[in-house]
Parts: sequence; structure tokens; C-alpha cells
Amino acid sequence: MAPRRPGAALAAALPSAAAFLLLLLLPPSPLLAAAGLSGYFGTKSRYEEVNPHLVHDPLSLGPGAAGARLPAACAPLQLRALLRHGTRYPTAGQIRRLGQLHARLRRRPAAAACPAAAALAAWQMWYEESLDGRLAPQGRRDMEQLARRLAARFPALFAARRRLLLASSSKHRCLQSGAAFRRGLGPSLSLGTDEVEVEVNDSLMRFFDHCAKFVAWVEENDAAMCQVDAFKEGPEMRKVLEKVASALCLPAEELNADLVQVAFLTCSYELAIKNVTSPWCSLFSEEDAKVLEYLNDLKQYWKRGYGYDINSRSSCILFQDIFQHLDKAVEESKSSKPISSPLIVQVGHAETLQPLLALMGFFKDDEPLKANNYVRQAHRKFRSGRIVPYAANLVFVLYHCDQVKTSKEEYQVQMLLNEKPMLFHHSNETTSTYADLKDYYKDILENCHFKEECELPKVNVTAVDEL
Ligand SMILES: *[C@@H]1O[C@H](CO)[C@@H](O)[C@H](O)[C@H]1NC(C)=O
Ligand SMILES: *[C@@H]1O[C@H](CO)[C@@H](O)[C@H](O)[C@H]1NC(C)=O
Ligand SMILES: *[C@@H]1O[C@H](CO)[C@@H](O)[C@H](O)[C@H]1NC(C)=O
Ligand SMILES: *[C@@H]1O[C@H](CO)[C@@H](O)[C@H](O)[C@H]1NC(C)=O
Repeated sequence: MAPRRPGAALAAALPSAAAFLLLLLLPPSPLLAAAGLSGYFGTKSRYEEVNPHLVHDPLSLGPGAAGARLPAACAPLQLRALLRHGTRYPTAGQIRRLGQLHARLRRRPAAAACPAAAALAAWQMWYEESLDGRLAPQGRRDMEQLARRLAARFPALFAARRRLLLASSSKHRCLQSGAAFRRGLGPSLSLGTDEVEVEVNDSLMRFFDHCAKFVAWVEENDAAMCQVDAFKEGPEMRKVLEKVASALCLPAEELNADLVQVAFLTCSYELAIKNVTSPWCSLFSEEDAKVLEYLNDLKQYWKRGYGYDINSRSSCILFQDIFQHLDKAVEESKSSKPISSPLIVQVGHAETLQPLLALMGFFKDDEPLKANNYVRQAHRKFRSGRIVPYAANLVFVLYHCDQVKTSKEEYQVQMLLNEKPMLFHHSNETTSTYADLKDYYKDILENCHFKEECELPKVNVTAVDEL
């Protein structure tokens, strides 16, 4: 229960709207507390959480920019950027649940002991179901600014009249993100011969929808999320639920984990979309936020991450496509031809990036994330908010290096996640020769093929035993 505020006794005598105004005049202690929650918003995190320098200067390349450079003898040949769309509105389902929770709070008589309930009853419900997951104005800015930073980081690749291949998932928020990214680059790049600005390619960007085995075994299999369901009913969530119920003066039976999660999501949406700390945030302490972050990560882990092999194997189509384009660029370079696709930008979802990163072995913890190891996972690598916030981006850069000057192999690769160089597992360095990289992923390159991975077995086995 939140500490009683100095004005609570007085507020008791007033109707709820006046009580809310009074609350606004009081020192903003619970509102300040909310600033500490934003690191735990999981997949609803702002991009600024992973790059805080952008808060002050959205076009700054940040403190790591200089360290990521290769020797001057290397020139970038090809850049492939996989993007998650920018900041979006809640989905229709989330908006509906929020509407129900909000209506319930408004129906209740003003209770003096519940300033949080009064503040929430006075909060204006402004989300409409028609917003359903669409790109928010902030999401357009996320994309325009990301485009400008990438162009500033790789000026030679983004120079005028280079050819840009821009593809996207068919979801409205991704198409809009692609268009915003394009605008951010300015008019000088060439789109090649095809007229369309953004090409829709769901088989690459929404491979999960097209993978029959994933759909049957994970997406449509209720039992696949058993760890998530167990955590919702477990002691950590129970404690958060009881605290929230008590702050709202609701019987705990009237709440459930999903409603608590909607309240927390609303806190995150209001910050990401409107840049405000809403009264929904005051329901939660930092400890509560950690529990709700874990709930979000558990779902990502079992649905998009290491939980089941098919989650990551379904991304083989994208993995293969990346290496095919790298191969082609190397071929063209070796035969002194112009690089046909120097810039490939593809816009998808957190669900596009997370499986690919898992396929490549990144952010893997020694132990799986489970309902019963919340405490042991306190320092886990698998934190969605750090990996796939809004506008998350995974960039592969292929370089051609002048051997005489560097004594390094001719073709080198870097990977950047959210504009920061990643350490390759095989070398623990931020650059790798292309040959070493292909050698490290030899097994996936040779044996992981979408069609075979995603085909359902002919015999009818029930999914869960097989997982
Ligand atoms: C999507 O990309 C894949 C791999 O590059 C390609 O084979 C396929 O033709 C593309 N689909 C569309 C609709 O462009
Ligand atoms: C968001 O709000 C903070 C604090 O009120 C302010 O400093 C910052 O400039 C705002 N950011 C944007 C993008 O409006
Ligand atoms: C990898 O390199 C970083 C510094 O770049 C170092 O801190 C870390 O200990 C290294 N890890 C391994 C496993 O060698
Ligand atoms: C597999 O089982 C499901 C439900 O048990 C059934 O609907 C489906 O027709 C079966 N498929 C085959 C190929 O036997």
C-alpha cells in the first residue's frame, strides 16, 4: 500500500474530482517514483532506454561512436538493417481491457483511503480501439532520427544515388515506419527501378506466421506458455496483485495478472507515446516493475526466444537471406563489379529480431527462464527491453579491407545492435573476418532451411511432448 499522503484526511471530505486537483497540488512523490520504472518496460521500452544520450540530442552518435571504427583501410560495401517499427499505440485488445479496468474504477464511490483510485478515475481514457497497434507520432520520429544517425555513421553507403532496398512487414505500423525511415534519409537516394517505396515481404519479416510448426506447437498451443501462466499465478505476481488491489481499494478477487499488466502497460505507453508519467505508474514500485518485466521476458523467451527450438529455427529464412546478400556483395567486389544492393533496410517486429538473435546464440542464459527462478534470473542476459525496445535495430556491415595496409583478411563484418557493436561469440571481438563468421555459423548455413524446419511432421503427435 502506498504511504498515506499528508492531504489524505482533507481529501476524504471532498468529492473525487476536487480530491484529484488537491493531489496535483501536493508534492509529486509517487509521480517521481515512476521515473525509476522505465527501465523495466520490456518490449514497450523507449529506444532512449538503451541509448540515454538521445534524450538530450536525438541525432548524436553517442559515446561509443569513435571506438566502433575500423581501420581506415576498410570501406563499407554493404549494410543490412533489420528494424523493429517505432513507438506504437496499444493493440485493440489492450485498449479494451484498459477501458474495462478504467470503467470499474470510475463506477466506484470516491474512497478517501484510495487516492490512487481517485486519480485513476479522474484520468482521461483517450485510447480508442481504432488506434489498434498503429505507429504513434513518436514512432515516426524514432524512425526518421534513426535513419539520420545511420546515414551519419556510414556516409559513404548513404551517399546520393546509392540504391536502397526497403522492405517491410505488411503491418501498417511497419509500412509507416519504413516510410518515415525513408523520409529521414532525404530525397537523394535512389529506389532503383521499381516504383514502390516499400516492398512488402511477410515471408521474411513475419516468418513466424508462415511456419506451420511454430503456429501449431507454440502460437496456437496453450500448453506452450505454461511457464508464463504459472508465473502469473505465482507468489511474486500475487504480491504485486495484492498491493495494487489494496492501493485501488478493490478486493483482490476483482483483479488478475492480466489487468495488473494492463495498468503497467498503460504506464509504459503514456511515457513512450506522450512523454508523460501517468497516474497509472504510481501503482507500482521498482520491485513490482521488476516482476512485471520478468513476466514480459518470460513470454518473449518461450514464444520468441530459447524456450523452444522452433522459435529461432523459423527465422532461418531471414538468416539465409542475410548471408546470400553478403555472399553476393563479396562476389561482386571480387570481380570488381558495382555492389548491386549496398543498402538493405527491412522493417519488422520484435518478433522478427528476437528469434534471429536466438538463432545466432546471443543473450543466452545458462539456465532457462522459468516461473520458479525469478530470483536467480535477476542478472539475466535475456532482457527484452535491452534487446528489442521500440525502433530496435540489428545492422550487419560488410567491409572490404585493403590487405597491404591491414594484414587482415579482405572481407570483414560488424554487427551492431541498437547502434552498438556486438561482440562475436567466436572471437569476443566486434569485428570478424567474413570467412570466420561463416565458419562459426556453418551448421546453420548448411542445415537450417525454413521449409524443412517448419513442416509439421506427417504423423500426428501432440505438440507439447515433442517440444
Ligand atoms: C521476399 O524475400 C524472399 C527472399 O529474398 C524472396 O525469395 C521473395 O521472393 C520475396 N517475396 C516478395 C513478395 O517479394
Ligand atoms: C520529455 O519530457 C522531459 C521531461 O519533462 C523533457 O525534458 C523532454 O524534453 C521531453 N522530450 C520530448 C521529446 O518531448
Ligand atoms: C571479451 O572482451 C571484453 C572486452 O572487450 C572483456 O571484458 C571480456 O572479459 C571478454 N570476455 C571473454 C570471455 O574473453
Ligand atoms: C491430427 O489431429 C488433429 C486433432 O487431433 C486432427 O484434427 C487432424 O485431422 C489430424 N491430422 C492428421 C494428418 O491426421
